[in-house]
Amino acid sequence: MSELAASVGKPKTPVTEIVDFPANDEQRQAANALKQHFDAQGSDKSNHHSYHHLYGAILANREAMRSVIEIGIGTQHSDTVSYMVAGKPGGSLRAFRDFLPFARIYGADIDRRVLFKEERIETFFVDQTEPATFEQLARSVDGECDLIIDDGLHSPNANIQTLIFGLKNVRRGGWVVVEDIGHHALPVWQAVSALLPERYRRHIVNEEHGLVFAVQRLE
Ligand SMILES: C[S@@+](CC[C@H](N)C(=O)[O-])C[C@H]1O[C@@H](n2cnc3c(N)ncnc32)[C@H](O)[C@@H]1O
Repeated sequence: MSELAASVGKPKTPVTEIVDFPANDEQRQAANALKQHFDAQGSDKSNHHSYHHLYGAILANREAMRSVIEIGIGTQHSDTVSYMVAGKPGGSLRAFRDFLPFARIYGADIDRRVLFKEERIETFFVDQTEPATFEQLARSVDGECDLIIDDGLHSPNANIQTLIFGLKNVRRGGWVVVEDIGHHALPVWQAVSALLPERYRRHIVNEEHGLVFAVQRLE
C-alpha cells in the first residue's frame, strides 16, 4: 500500500529519531521534567521506552494544556491481552496529571478492574475493537483534547479505531499519538500517513522498542 501511495505521488513520511523530536531547550527541559513524573509514578514510558522526549515536546506549554486522553490504563492481570509485566496501573495518567497543573486526564481500558477516579483523573470502559464503546468517553471529553494516546491493545484494527476517535476529538493544534508499533509495520503506517489529508501533520518516530505515529491537527 505504501508503494502504491508513493507511485501516485504521495511522499513517504520521514522517520524521526525520538531524541530529535524536541525542537528547542524549553521542550528538552519539559521532557526531562516529564521523565521524573513517569518514573515517580511507576510508568514504563521513560524507563523502558523513551517517550518523554515526544510528550515533553508536545506538552511543553504545560499551563495551557486542558485535557489528555490515554487508551490503555495498564493492567497487571495476565488474563488480559497487553497486560504489563512491570509498570504500575494508572502510572502514566498520574504522571500527566502531576506534570500538567490545569489539565483533566481521561483514561480508558478494556479491563474494568483497573478503572479508577481521583483528583483530575477519570476513567472509562472502552474496547478499542468495538467502536460503539468509545461513545461514553467521547461525551465526557467534549471534543477538545490536547493529546490523545493509544497505548492499548496494539493491534492494527484497535489502532485504526482509536485513530478515528482521536482525529474526531482532538483540538486544532492538538495531537493524536499511537505508541508501540512494531518496526515491521512501518509500511502500514506509511500508508495510513498517506491517507490522511494535509490538515494533519504526520510524524513517524523511531525509538529503541518500536515506532510511534504522531499526528498534529493543523486546522
Ligand atoms: C501497556 S498497558 C498500558 C500502560 C499504560 N498506558 C502506561 O503507560 O503505564 C496496555 C493496556 O491496554 C489494555 N487493553 C488491551 N486490550 C484492549 C482493548 N481492546 N481496548 C482497550 N484497552 C485494551 C490492557 O488492559 C492494558 O491495561
